[in-house]
Amino acid sequence: MSITILAIESSCDETSAAVCRDGQILSNYIANQTVHEQYGGVVPELASRAHMQNIVPVVHTALQKAFPHQTGNLLSAIDAIAFTQAPGLIGSLLVGAQFAKSLALALNIPLIAVHHMQAHVLANLIDEPRPAFPFLCLTVSGGHTQIVLCESPQLLQVIGETMDDAAGEAFDKSAKLLGLPYPGGPLIDKYAKNGNPQRFAFPEPQIPGLNFSFSGLKTAILYFLQEHTAKDPTFIENNLADICASIQHRIVSILLNKLQAAALQTGIKNICIAGGVSANSGLRKAFTEMGEKNKWQTFIPAFEYCTDNAAMIAITAYYKYQAGEFSSLSVSPTARANW
Ligand code: KG4
Ligand code: ZN
Repeated sequence: MSITILAIESSCDETSAAVCRDGQILSNYIANQTVHEQYGGVVPELASRAHMQNIVPVVHTALQKAFPHQTGNLLSAIDAIAFTQAPGLIGSLLVGAQFAKSLALALNIPLIAVHHMQAHVLANLIDEPRPAFPFLCLTVSGGHTQIVLCESPQLLQVIGETMDDAAGEAFDKSAKLLGLPYPGGPLIDKYAKNGNPQRFAFPEPQIPGLNFSFSGLKTAILYFLQEHTAKDPTFIENNLADICASIQHRIVSILLNKLQAAALQTGIKNICIAGGVSANSGLRKAFTEMGEKNKWQTFIPAFEYCTDNAAMIAITAYYKYQAGEFSSLSVSPTARANW
């Protein structure tokens, strides 16, 4: 029997809907919220209001893109509704959750609650080639930095994580210190392409085990910039590419050194990356090179499945549907959630 799932993602500042049939993504539509740019970060209340405005047209567009030749009620093709239950901004999560619950009730079809971080990992199962289990995944986003050991779509274990800032925050906060707008990660990536990553040496924290820390790096960058701009107010402007390349180089080396340690410790050679920061070109390149050197099989989701998207919610829901993991209509979203 064919299974068609409509999935909704609204955990932060992207409103997204996707349709998946038997594990194949038929559509993945994302509405970005530009309203936050002027505030230098996501404003939770504005995010929930934008989700309220976006959700109906976004779902409608995802259905139209999935079934371009179908007329009439496009929802009649849907067998289950999935949504991001946690973690995220509670107001944003509530919009997607209420919409999904209402639709499941109205259509009398099953509801599937999905954990956002599990979905980032399983984004690696969307396209061929797919990693065989067990695999390791370095999940790097704006709110999380984790090394996850995946034994099956349902059996995921966090074996290392950040003790303070996430990798995405390290990028965004560094960008803010450089006077760049939010989100600064993609801009650091862009300027770094023309810079010398060896020009400035930033410290690598010595954290035991597989955990990460980025707060020391942020402080080191702050002091470095204060010292240089005191002597030369044009320092940032004149050295932007080299500064970005050096910051990116250090963040990437912190991430990959721990991932290499995790691979050694577990003996696993199927290795993935996921999350918004996995869109970073420096990380993608260094990860691929490290994989070749260590004889790993490496996997990186397509760009559109790295940053927040509903396709990853849909693929996770597909595995949950097969395992019979449905939710009741009384399920509530939560801002924080372990798994
Ligand atoms: O996974 P995501 O879209 O949302 C969360 O779940 O947090 O990740 C967003 C993060 C932001 O910090 C953003 O700056 C970062 O991913 N990011 C990047 C790049 N693209 C997105 N960081 C570095 N380089 C990029 N190309
Ligand atoms: Zn995310």
